[in-house]
Amino acid sequence: MGSRSRERRSEAVQSTNDSSALSKSSLAARGYVHDAFAALLVPGTARRAPLIHRGYYVRARAVRHCVRAFVERTCAAPGSPRAQILSLGAGSDSLYFRLKTAGRLAEAAVWEVDFPDVAERKAQRIRDTPDLCALTGPFQRGDPGSNLCFESSDYRILGLDLRQLQRLDQALAAAGLDAAAPTLLLAEAVLTYLEPDDAAALIAWAAQRFSNAIFVVYEQMRPQDAFGEFMQQHFRHLNSPLHGLDRFPDAEAQQKRFLQAGWTACRAMDLNEFYRCFLPAEERRRVENLEPFDEFEEWHLKCAHYFILAASRGDSLSQTLVFPPSETFPRIDPASPSGVFPASVVTGDTQGPGLRRYGHASVLLSPGVIFSAGGFGEQEGRHCRVSKFHMLLRDSDFEWKGNQIGSWGTGAQWDGRLYHTMTRLSDTQALVLGGRLSPVTPALGILQLSYEKEDNSSEDPNVTVTKFGPEDSTLSRWRHSTTEVSCENQKYLFVYGGRSVAEPVLSDWHFLHVGTMTWVRIPVEGEGPEGRHSHSACSWQGGALIAGGLGASEEPLSSVFFLKPITCGFLWESIAIQPPITPRYSHTAHVVNGKLLLVGGVWIHSPAVPGVTVIDLSTGLSFEYQIDTTCVPWPLMLHNHTSILFPEEQQLLLLGGGGNCFSFGTHFNPHTVTLDLSSLSARQ
Ligand SMILES: C[S@@+](CC[C@H](N)C(=O)[O-])C[C@H]1O[C@@H](n2cnc3c(N)ncnc32)[C@H](O)[C@@H]1O
Repeated sequence: MGSRSRERRSEAVQSTNDSSALSKSSLAARGYVHDAFAALLVPGTARRAPLIHRGYYVRARAVRHCVRAFVERTCAAPGSPRAQILSLGAGSDSLYFRLKTAGRLAEAAVWEVDFPDVAERKAQRIRDTPDLCALTGPFQRGDPGSNLCFESSDYRILGLDLRQLQRLDQALAAAGLDAAAPTLLLAEAVLTYLEPDDAAALIAWAAQRFSNAIFVVYEQMRPQDAFGEFMQQHFRHLNSPLHGLDRFPDAEAQQKRFLQAGWTACRAMDLNEFYRCFLPAEERRRVENLEPFDEFEEWHLKCAHYFILAASRGDSLSQTLVFPPSETFPRIDPASPSGVFPASVVTGDTQGPGLRRYGHASVLLSPGVIFSAGGFGEQEGRHCRVSKFHMLLRDSDFEWKGNQIGSWGTGAQWDGRLYHTMTRLSDTQALVLGGRLSPVTPALGILQLSYEKEDNSSEDPNVTVTKFGPEDSTLSRWRHSTTEVSCENQKYLFVYGGRSVAEPVLSDWHFLHVGTMTWVRIPVEGEGPEGRHSHSACSWQGGALIAGGLGASEEPLSSVFFLKPITCGFLWESIAIQPPITPRYSHTAHVVNGKLLLVGGVWIHSPAVPGVTVIDLSTGLSFEYQIDTTCVPWPLMLHNHTSILFPEEQQLLLLGGGGNCFSFGTHFNPHTVTLDLSSLSARQ
């Protein structure tokens, strides 16, 4: 790399601090954390989205947890040497000011290092802000030409490149850092910006230099899966690529890395585990209710792609249990796969517009006609709640072709809902129930969609939207399921679960009589499933199979229930599964030859990527199948998608899917993909 492009990359890396500082300031402004200083340390303001707030919240809490463990251990013992916190790549972080106001720096001091420009800007901002100066007390600049930009009795800011270890070492010693004193080294979202060899040298230097220390790291991992690839693409586009993720792809590899570099104890975990095991349930509830929120998939995926690590060494600190063992987060090791379902593209760019959307619904209207409606996606070059319908039509050569169509006539129009359900009524009609416009605005009313295509006409087909039925609260829900069931030879739609503005999960159900379009009461015996949304539901033997979902407290579920038809109603039966399946949600499901297939989705208890879980409904035995994505454009995100089964052809079409991936942008799967299920019949 030439010196100009090295410089540009270095500027890009420095600007990651600006974005991070604005997010931290927005986080505090919305009440997620108490931090009166974040806003003072950054010029300007930005209001971040709830998903970004949650991501930064869990990061702040994870780092705070480690800092507290260190401070409590080192500042408790009277007469012990002054503790030191050395923040590497500190950027505009407000840690010093938070510790100072909390009275935590009586026996401790803070050193910060960042590139000279970043360090100088921060020092200047502190000097210019009376509220900050009041906390630092008297201060001075370092000598001209020195790396010291700011110096007070307990706070120093140094402008240095972390890749120049000798200079770093000398400058820190000159600024009074005592290598024998208990030291916390903090690298919050920093090491992945260094080339792996530079990061390795820094970790090894710290282990050699500090005899009694804790090294805390927060950063990205899991580069190989779809979300990980999307995350890496984002940082590459920013010209600040993430380094070292392939060498240290998970928490275990990170632990090993530190132990091999001279640290004597180390524990790392992903942020899902940290959130569930180290934050009290009450605090989680507080945060989960701060803002309307409906991006669970990407919240969990984001947390699965970051880790918090604490490595320690030395007489006293190596015994500090920053993360005491926790029993409450069961890790489920993926069962060895029983087979593979190869994926291939069915509609490329030349076969009409793709279905670049998520949170939509799809139905098979007739053998070669798949109709999709709603969701959030790309339309006319914009990201929006899509108003156009999508048809996938199979021609006489058995090739699928996509087409976007608008609604017709002067009547009702598509209202822009997502997370609704859609059920086939006839070869040309579908019924839409529930859904939402925003997380605080449910979609109102039942919609009937009628699709018309004149035979041999070259005109585009039309869809008419008819709104009917009372706008009652029964359907003020989304992320629910609608399943065709039958009772005494009558067909009903069984609407179950979901969430609403007032309820994070719903556990109620309703039967819609299809002939008369009226809600009816049908007796249901047995203990029903716990409330959930984003579960799967499919018709089986006249009843409905409900699987997984996200439960109360935002916990993925593994239970599978059968709403079984009995003489004059239904009975809830729980299905025992062996081995137990990994809790998941936002998947789709189908029954093929007495086997329930759970396709894709999101889970947080396993490091593997959810493929297809197959449950034999007669024995309860479960098997894992991987999805081979080598022949499809990557990344392919299998959540918020829909799927249509073609049992005779042993094919499963996967349509749309993706989501708003944290600060990395929005991903839409570009193509419709098919899974070849033929290896399933080989097991029979
Ligand atoms: C994403 S920001 C994080 C800032 C801060 N740790 C926080 O969490 O708010 C990454 C920071 O690391 C700094 N950084 C990256 N590489 C560095 C290097 N080689 N030397 C000094 N600082 C570096 C950047 O300038 C930037 O301030």
